Amino acid sequence: MLPPKKILVILSLSVFVGVLIWLFTNPSKASTPINSSIAKHKKIGKTDCQDCHIAVIKQKNMHPVAEDCSGCHTYTESNEAAEVKLVNSIPGLCFTCHTDKQEDFEKKKFKHVAAESDCTVCHSPHSSDEPAILKDKTNQLCFMCHSDKQDEIEHKSFAHAPIKDVGCSTCHNPHAADYSPLLKLKVNELCLSCHGLSAGNKPNQAFLTVNNHSQIPEKYSDKAKKIFLDGDGLGHPYFKHPVGGVPDPSQPGAMITCLSCHNPHAGKTVQMYKGDLGKQALCDKCHK
Ligand code: HEC
Ligand code: HEC
Ligand code: HEC
Ligand code: HEC
Ligand code: HEC
Ligand code: HEC
Ligand code: HEC
Ligand code: HEC
Ligand code: HEC
Repeated sequence: MLPPKKILVILSLSVFVGVLIWLFTNPSKASTPINSSIAKHKKIGKTDCQDCHIAVIKQKNMHPVAEDCSGCHTYTESNEAAEVKLVNSIPGLCFTCHTDKQEDFEKKKFKHVAAESDCTVCHSPHSSDEPAILKDKTNQLCFMCHSDKQDEIEHKSFAHAPIKDVGCSTCHNPHAADYSPLLKLKVNELCLSCHGLSAGNKPNQAFLTVNNHSQIPEKYSDKAKKIFLDGDGLGHPYFKHPVGGVPDPSQPGAMITCLSCHNPHAGKTVQMYKGDLGKQALCDKCHK
């Protein structure tokens, strides 16, 4: 077993390497304004941009403002050359209309460094076959840089269902969030919004009302096995057992949460026990 510091170093390195690979394979860095003075643009005169570039707005989901090319691109012509530029650099260009997103980055405690300065890593500015004009399926976008997570999820026997059914943004906000690491809710609230029954035996659906844009199908949480906690929040995995509110004896300084015993992404067994321990070894971490 590696000491936690080493694991952290390895994890940060793998993300870093992912970013490098990504940069290397995506030479058109989107935050640099596009400056084009290529020959094909020399004589377009009054020709409409769409005459040649109709393809950019032909995919299923269209960015509602995409048809007006001049909203984001300028075109200037001189005798020698024509030049196409972005009217503003990214993310400023996007924030002129998406002020709520700008506020998220300013106000929320944790920011996704990959999104803060570059929106077009993940979004097409024009149109896409994916929802939210994403350039690819959400998980694939995330795996571009978080390849360690792809390894974990694909190599362990059991992947957590919502990753495949909905995607990484079930639990993570891809932009910014108040809970670390980029979680939409506090850990236990997050897990219990699908797996919890409140004391009145009612499904706990806090999750579904968090974000108007949530892409989680309305009844999805019905698929998740429920755990019942009593009025004091006790009762899992056994009668009166705590899942929160008391210190975690296996991690000095930390409180007990669902993550004291479960991995959120994948596991060797269906219960995805933390550290891929067997059940007895899990108990032994805290009860010797
Ligand atoms: C006569 C056809 C034609 C018209 C009209 C035209 N373009 Fe282009 N444009 C091209 C071609 C060809 C390329 C090069 C495409 C490539 O390399 O794939 C290009 C490239 C571009 C690029 C990418 C440049 C780069 O450096 O990567 C942008 C942005 C662009 N055009 C914007 C526009 C805008 C905005 C308009 C309208 C003002 C416009 N184009 C009108 C033919 C045209
Ligand atoms: C909301 C702002 C916005 C609007 C509106 C917009 N573009 Fe773009 N366009 C961008 C940005 C940002 C990039 C660079 C994106 C990237 O690297 O993926 C870009 C890149 C391009 C490119 C080169 C890369 C590519 O995707 O092929 C072309 C060509 C282009 N735009 C044409 C157009 C045309 C034609 C229109 C109008 C029909 C238009 N754009 C409307 C923001 C916009
Ligand atoms: C001129 C205003 C304007 C600009 C500039 C603009 N957008 Fe939008 N965008 C809109 C409007 C309007 C909508 C539809 C309403 C909404 O979802 O907020 C939208 C929707 C979206 C959506 C959601 C699409 C969906 O199907 O749910 C995304 C993602 C998005 N924009 C990203 C961007 C990015 C990235 C940029 C910068 C490259 C950008 N926008 C620049 C006006 C703009
Ligand atoms: C790391 C990938 C990624 C980056 C980078 C990114 N987004 Fe997104 N964005 C997403 C995903 C995934 C969704 C769908 C959200 C969901 O499933 O809940 C989304 C949704 C959106 C939406 C529509 C839904 C909503 O939450 O309002 C807007 C608007 C948007 N993004 C704007 C932006 C802007 C502006 C930037 C740059 C500052 C940006 N995004 C950068 C991944 C990204
Ligand atoms: C362009 C590369 C890139 C893409 C694409 C990307 N990320 Fe990241 N992500 C990063 C970097 C860099 C960090 C900061 C790493 C660090 O702090 O160790 C990060 C941090 C995170 C963190 C917080 C880690 C922590 O310990 O605080 C989460 C969670 C995360 N990303 C999830 C996602 C999700 C979900 C997606 C897809 C919607 C995604 N990322 C797409 C590069 C990326
Ligand atoms: C069911 C909710 C859930 C889903 C879905 C989910 N995550 Fe996570 N993720 C978490 C939680 C909870 C943590 C915190 C783990 C911890 O602190 O031990 C986390 C941590 C992370 C981290 C940072 C810490 C680490 O373990 O490296 C990254 C990066 C990350 N997730 C990426 C992803 C990606 C990429 C996807 C999609 C393939 C994804 N997550 C899907 C809940 C989720
Ligand atoms: C969006 C809903 C959703 C969220 C949020 C969610 N899960 Fe799940 N989870 C599911 C579904 C669906 C399954 C597969 C059906 C099942 O077995 O419960 C599953 C399966 C599981 C299983 C395996 C159950 C078994 O024995 O078959 C465990 C353990 C688990 N989740 C723990 C967690 C933890 C811990 C969190 C918080 C980090 C969490 N879940 C967040 C939906 C969710
Ligand atoms: C002290 C360790 C521990 C904690 C904390 C914990 N679990 Fe579990 N969990 C287990 C064990 C052990 C099992 C297997 C129980 C069994 O086989 O009867 C389990 C099983 C599950 C299952 C499958 C239930 C079923 O009916 O098969 C789900 C779902 C689950 N846990 C979710 C959660 C959620 C959500 C949290 C946080 C609120 C949580 N767990 C906190 C140890 C824990
Ligand atoms: C992450 C740490 C942790 C793990 C793992 C864990 N427990 Fe616990 N357990 C606790 C804490 C904390 C308490 C409350 C202790 C107290 O009140 O003194 C507790 C209480 C209990 C109690 C009640 C004891 C009493 O005083 O009434 C039993 C029984 C128990 N655990 C069994 C288990 C079993 C069986 C497992 C393995 C499936 C397990 N625990 C895994 C932390 C854990």
